[in-house]
Amino acid sequence: MPEQSSPAQEIAAGYATSGNAVELGSVVVDGQVDAGARVRIPLAMMNRHGLVAGATGTGKTKTLQGLAEQLSNAGVPVVMADVKGDLSGLSHPGASNDKVTARAADTGDDWAPTAYPVQFLSLGTSGIGVPVRATISGFGPILLSKVLGLNDTQESTLGLIFHWADSKGLPLLDTKDLRSVITHLTSDAGKADLQGIGGVSSATAGVILRALSNLDAQGGNEFFGEPELVVADLIRQTDGKGVISLLELGNLQGKPALFSTFLMWLLAELFEELPEEGDLDAPKLVFFFDEAHLLFHDASKAFLDRIEQTVKLIRSKGVGVFFCTQLPTDVPNAVLSQLGARVQHALRAFTPDDQKALTQTVKTYPTTPHYELDKALTSLGIGEAIVTVLSEKGAPTPVAWTRLRAPRSLMDTIGDDAIKQAAAASELHGKYSQAVDRESAYEMMAQKMAPPAEQPRAEQPPEQSAPAREKEEPGFIEQVMGNSAVKSFFRSAASALGREITRGVFGTRRR
Ligand SMILES: Nc1ncnc2c1ncn2[C@@H]1O[C@H](COP(=O)(O)OP(=O)(O)OP(=O)(O)O)[C@@H](O)[C@H]1O
Ligand SMILES: [Mg+2]
Repeated sequence: MPEQSSPAQEIAAGYATSGNAVELGSVVVDGQVDAGARVRIPLAMMNRHGLVAGATGTGKTKTLQGLAEQLSNAGVPVVMADVKGDLSGLSHPGASNDKVTARAADTGDDWAPTAYPVQFLSLGTSGIGVPVRATISGFGPILLSKVLGLNDTQESTLGLIFHWADSKGLPLLDTKDLRSVITHLTSDAGKADLQGIGGVSSATAGVILRALSNLDAQGGNEFFGEPELVVADLIRQTDGKGVISLLELGNLQGKPALFSTFLMWLLAELFEELPEEGDLDAPKLVFFFDEAHLLFHDASKAFLDRIEQTVKLIRSKGVGVFFCTQLPTDVPNAVLSQLGARVQHALRAFTPDDQKALTQTVKTYPTTPHYELDKALTSLGIGEAIVTVLSEKGAPTPVAWTRLRAPRSLMDTIGDDAIKQAAAASELHGKYSQAVDRESAYEMMAQKMAPPAEQPRAEQPPEQSAPAREKEEPGFIEQVMGNSAVKSFFRSAASALGREITRGVFGTRRR
């Protein structure tokens, strides 16, 4: 006669049994943890996406840290936003203490301090990681509108402006390129072009120009430009371990829109670049969006639609996306419904709004005979979560109150100096540390010259030295625009520059 199994074991029976899975932790029932009742996410289901949510201080970041460690161990590269700097500890072995030892025993974990391969990245040159950039053209109008805080009308105007520049094959690399094109279109010389694209009012163009100036004042000009980050550089292994690319928010605290939109750009780039895959045993890359509310906050309909579409489609490219935020209600339903794994840390129920969010959260879980979910969700301990994931067969697993494993790397920041040192010594430093200002729309006008025959997309040779960027004088574009050579340049731009730029699902450039 088989022994009667406990509720904890009954729950665990619904989870993966093989080792080819990420270990989350062990099942808790009636306050008792069963170290042998394991809660796992099969590696093959990591591309079915997930949500890690919970009130502040409940253990979300440590959950991400633990997931990243195990993915790296399995050879899967990871990209994460390090919003508070505390994920930098992934690069150092953790410190043992009584709490960690107790948690290891609770979760049947043969815990040992371990460091993981980390690549530190930052947006623009004033950050602490290796600077990464995107071009204005690569970003495209929808993402740029999000960064500029444009409304729907302004967003569609920007779309028309991009469309015009794209059709002329005009390289918009940095903010001054875009400014020069907008200034042209709203000048006397550009009237004919403007009529050709229709629907651009000079008042709206003026708003966009002002928003661009604000962005520049906030450091946008050090982020937009070349060399543009090549997403293949995020899909790397070292000694069989997946490299964890940490995007340090650092001094961008005041510019969350740029930071979160850049992450979305990365995802769109991955979607455009990676081939279709069948069902893989393990994902090619897992992407963690910490502080995901920043992404959805104030987002346009077009932007939200694209997120939804990208999340839906990127799964078939072998990429998993995990959103991390305080409340599940921060994530639009259309996106939420595509997230196969739920790791819900404790929720607060202080205010009527909290209560509403709690009720909504409960509704998104499968029913469970073992827990009263509303009570469970408000009484979870730190580093515990209510979990349901997809089994190897793709079915939702039983709801499990889970005590999560402790990360094996350092649960703290390693500090700015150590991050800077690691970045300077890293593989990508030579390729990306220097900005390159190649000839583009702005320079061509400035030189009052005919454009060169070909404008290949920059495949920057490593360590190419950069010509110093010249400071732009006020009113310069306006002066240049009045010049007849410039007017004729714009008239001939179409024939001279050739290659039309096409845009993919997110409005980002397709190669
Ligand atoms: N899995 C875990 N193992 C060990 N300790 C943990 C674990 N999860 C959380 N802790 C403890 O709880 C603290 C807070 O966790 P964490 O920083 O992950 O919270 P958070 O939800 O990300 O908070 P915030 O919203 O403020 O960023 C950690 O510093 C650690 O001491
Ligand atoms: Mg956190």
